[in-house]
Amino acid sequence: MTATEIEQNKEKFMKLCRENIHRDGLEQLLAYIDTTDFYTAPSSTAFHLNEDGGLCLHSINVFETARHLYTTWLLPHIRQGTAVTNEELPMESVAVAALFHDLCKTKLYHKTEKWKKDENGRWVTYPGYEIVDEFPFGHGEKSCVIIGWFMRLKQEELLAIRWHMGMFDMAEQGSSMRYAYRAAMEKSPLVALLQTADLFASNCLEKTTKYK
Ligand SMILES: [Fe+2]
Ligand SMILES: [Fe+2]
Repeated sequence: MTATEIEQNKEKFMKLCRENIHRDGLEQLLAYIDTTDFYTAPSSTAFHLNEDGGLCLHSINVFETARHLYTTWLLPHIRQGTAVTNEELPMESVAVAALFHDLCKTKLYHKTEKWKKDENGRWVTYPGYEIVDEFPFGHGEKSCVIIGWFMRLKQEELLAIRWHMGMFDMAEQGSSMRYAYRAAMEKSPLVALLQTADLFASNCLEKTTKYK
């Protein structure tokens, strides 16, 4: 991603926040985000959007996917009475959950030189990222805490962000955690919506860079 694209994505992210979120604390949260590496960080070390600017673009992609899925599919079903709930989701909650779900990845990925053997068996370096977590509080859990420093979250937003890794986390969890995950999904469609949008964006929209 070029520096211009990174700057354009930053402007787009802030615009989406201000257009969709009208809650006390937003400007303070955006000011905090600006002190972190959110706009330049990668989205992962070795998978989707593992490049500078990946985290911000991923957050935009997840929001746009969630918004589209909600407005074109779930919302019509809710209005027709053919969804599991009759209550509509505020777009503000979709935006809060999607745009901020991965704030836990700020200050996490650090550029480093990695080593591998080339085709002749010689050791060579290539650029990569390593993880150094200065606040190891979990994944979704940490995002909830960071947002909560500045903005009051609704219960359904907390649940969606807390459990957004979905089944990827479940194999390592005990039965009480699996029960809580299942119960969270029954509390609000926002929980499944965020997981689905995150999975779709990261696997279907976002490319992985192969560093040689
Ligand atoms: Fe995540
Ligand atoms: Fe994500």
